[in-house]
Amino acid sequence: MTDSKIMDKLVSLCKRRGFIFQSSDIYGGLEATYDYGPLGVELKNNVKQLWWRDVVTSRTDIVGMDAAIFMNSKVWEASGHVSEFHDPMVDCKNCKARFRADHIDLEKNCPTCGVKEWTDARQFNLMLKTHYGPSEDSSSVVYLRPETAQGIFVNFANAVTTSRAKLPFGIAQIGKAFRNEITTGNFLFRSREFEQMEMEFFVKPDETSEWLEYWSNARLDWYKSLGVTEKKLKLRPHEDNELAHYAAACFDVEYEFPFGWSELEGIADRGSYDLDQHAQHSGKKLTWFDSKTNEHITPAVVEASAGVDRTVLTILVDAYHEEEVKGEQRVVLKLNPKVAPITVAVFPLVNRDGMPEIAEKIIDDLKGDFAAFFDAGGSIGRRYRRQDEAGTPYGVTVDSDTLTDQTVTVRERDSMAQERLAIDQLSSYFRDKLR
Ligand code: GAP
Repeated sequence: MTDSKIMDKLVSLCKRRGFIFQSSDIYGGLEATYDYGPLGVELKNNVKQLWWRDVVTSRTDIVGMDAAIFMNSKVWEASGHVSEFHDPMVDCKNCKARFRADHIDLEKNCPTCGVKEWTDARQFNLMLKTHYGPSEDSSSVVYLRPETAQGIFVNFANAVTTSRAKLPFGIAQIGKAFRNEITTGNFLFRSREFEQMEMEFFVKPDETSEWLEYWSNARLDWYKSLGVTEKKLKLRPHEDNELAHYAAACFDVEYEFPFGWSELEGIADRGSYDLDQHAQHSGKKLTWFDSKTNEHITPAVVEASAGVDRTVLTILVDAYHEEEVKGEQRVVLKLNPKVAPITVAVFPLVNRDGMPEIAEKIIDDLKGDFAAFFDAGGSIGRRYRRQDEAGTPYGVTVDSDTLTDQTVTVRERDSMAQERLAIDQLSSYFRDKLR
């Protein structure tokens, strides 16, 4: 199977099973914007909850916050995004197609029309603008934030005062970000509206390199903990010429997507760039008082910036498998049970003899602790296949033996192995499996 075929098949599975749809589908869609359906939103929420648990609530040195998307435009002037946040763009003079100049070979012909007639490259600012309030003049321009990080930097003093934080400490948030990308594509990989999970870790300036190393390794390990294939993950240091305008050093966590090794998350040494800029532009003091040395210092920042949608894409691509079972093709998403939208599907073998009622009762007992789903439609084989495509790790079937001995069949998705268990053991069985 070619790499582009895998992506096509995944996009079609996501639509077929209710993971992800093109935005505004019934009107022909809106390029590079996606909607999450019933299964997709569960997967996405699981990713965000695991990140929040591992980065915020399971630690004592990181707090969370949730800043507004709209911010005073002066934030983006101070942060350098108004003057620096751009990509080089070229047009094909023949067919008018637009490309990121650093994403194509300008020595070659246009990939759309096959003619080689390029304009000079020029810089294109990636921030999306709108007007805030009832007037539409230059004073009402606001930007849709291109990163969530600035909401953290401008709240640095608020967070330090209210949480009485001591260096090193971090502030984390999850939220939407927007970029007017010149070229989009590869499904969720590069879209114009996406979600970030960002954590800014404030440290003493002479401790930056050790924390950069710490967070790079910790973040790489996090993807492994979600079950992503280890040999398809790596850390890659940035070359000087690819560093963002605010970064002194950066490591990318990369995944080997069907379209090649690409960035999943960036871990950057932002130094004191952002706090210095905001202190200078706002006239406010953005320092931390070291009571041991009696000094006010401007902390340096190590940032871990992950994409929710890219993580979802990675998990889906990594989990997608096609297998032959008894001469038939089986498509299965081998999702880690921690992220799977449904943990257990419960099936009555037939829709009579009290089997649906027993299945419903099992769901009632499980649903507070596990994502449980009832499916009574079609042959049992078809129901298994549907749940294989949804990535559901366990299936429970109620059959005629259940009526007499209160046992059910539990089927494990990947091995397809089946075992017989008493209904009252199911909860502890699944709890053990998910540990
Ligand atoms: N605050 C730093 C920052 O925003 P970035 O490398 O530009 O750094 C961080 O973005 C992460 O956000 C990326 O690693 C990626 O996961 C995600 N991301 C960035 N642009 C994206 C886009 N257009 N579509 C989907 N995800 C994107």
